[in-house]
Amino acid sequence: MKVLLLGSGGRESAMAAALQRSPAVTELVAAPGNPGIGRTAEVCSIDVADPAAVVSLAERCRPALVVVGPEAPLVAGVSDALRANGYPVFGPDKEAARIEGSKSFAKELMECSEIPTARGRSFNEVSLAVAHMDALGPPYVVKADGLAAGKGVLVTQDRAEAVMGIEERLVGGRFGDAGRTVVIEEFLDGEEVSVIAFSDGRTVVPCPPAQDYKRALDGDKGLNTGGMGSYSPVPSCSDELAAAITDEVIEAMVAALAARGTPFIGAIYAGLALTTEGPRVIEFNARFGDPETQALLPRIESDFAELCLASATGQLEGMKLHCRSDVCVAVVVASEGYPGPHKTGLVIEGIEEAESVAGVEVFHSGTRLSEGMLRTDGGRVLAVSALGQDFSQARARAYQAVSCVHFEGALGRTDIALRAELKERGRA
Ligand code: AMP
Ligand code: GLY
Repeated sequence: MKVLLLGSGGRESAMAAALQRSPAVTELVAAPGNPGIGRTAEVCSIDVADPAAVVSLAERCRPALVVVGPEAPLVAGVSDALRANGYPVFGPDKEAARIEGSKSFAKELMECSEIPTARGRSFNEVSLAVAHMDALGPPYVVKADGLAAGKGVLVTQDRAEAVMGIEERLVGGRFGDAGRTVVIEEFLDGEEVSVIAFSDGRTVVPCPPAQDYKRALDGDKGLNTGGMGSYSPVPSCSDELAAAITDEVIEAMVAALAARGTPFIGAIYAGLALTTEGPRVIEFNARFGDPETQALLPRIESDFAELCLASATGQLEGMKLHCRSDVCVAVVVASEGYPGPHKTGLVIEGIEEAESVAGVEVFHSGTRLSEGMLRTDGGRVLAVSALGQDFSQARARAYQAVSCVHFEGALGRTDIALRAELKERGRA
């Protein structure tokens, strides 16, 4: 079958590789794709958040399946438009994608379905938001309501900084319309885990848990980013706990959306904190995680394209996801300055050498080809993923490969999956 994949990041690079491994996929078209994806797929440069442009591309290439990677097209109604034109789509309609697009909507549904989450309230007025924040006490959690590429959240002990965060969002226009409403939440203390499942609207098939590193610097210091690395599975999330999360969080949300008449078809993502009182949802996303996908898909033995197609056509019942026993570690190589301002256009070298390390795949995120050279084109440039029989081997391979990659100012965290490796060695 011919598959159209939408998106251009590291997640889509990993999805493209997983689709290409499927014997069912005879042709892959990616829009807009990136130079990494372009090595094995046809790439078309269109605005994937424009439903009309995507439908017109689909009319030209007639895919048997469209797989949507990022949130922007989902929230813009691209899946709705494709379905209206008869294409099977892996990615929810606009209405179901609101679980990601509006934090207050997600909170309401969680409350109705008794899905455990941080208590939170939405505000449009600074004084009311500050009063609620003071009632909860530190650490303070201030969120922009809408989409802000993972950067709309402020978690701080410092009251003055929290008040400024509220003002910046509500009055200062930081994060634009996404910040016109703020959500003030109780602080959740505990290790984080991401559970992502395929959903056909009724049935879900979960992937193993993964863990993402949101902060820019080692030791979870620095600013929140789109994600600096990931690993899977997660030793602190037992099979029983993962099964409970699937039942009580993922299936509960899929059932709630189905009951509203807005079934969720695609990858449903719950980000949770494992608190002493049990798992609590931090956020829902309407898609695979980035960079979790770069550590999940290399482990999946089942046919990824078949799972996406079964989700898109309501046929997940009875399907199972098979994983290899190898673990996977994905390290993001980012531009100097990220998540703040950073240079682009810097020449990247050493990817082939990195990929010659056993078990390693290098996924492009922010890259472009210009003047015949591969160059940086964003904050997160590459994700270096390594499989290994345990975390010690997978980390060693990942970091050996990272050391082969060069561009001016390249940086990354050095402690991705360290927690898992220490646990594995019985030290944590
Ligand atoms: P979000 O965009 O909602 O995923 O938030 C980004 C990051 O901020 C999360 O991955 C957490 O590390 C942190 N965070 C968000 N909400 C909370 C909370 N209620 N308690 C503690 N940390 C939080
Ligand atoms: N890794 C977090 C996200 O994809 O939102």
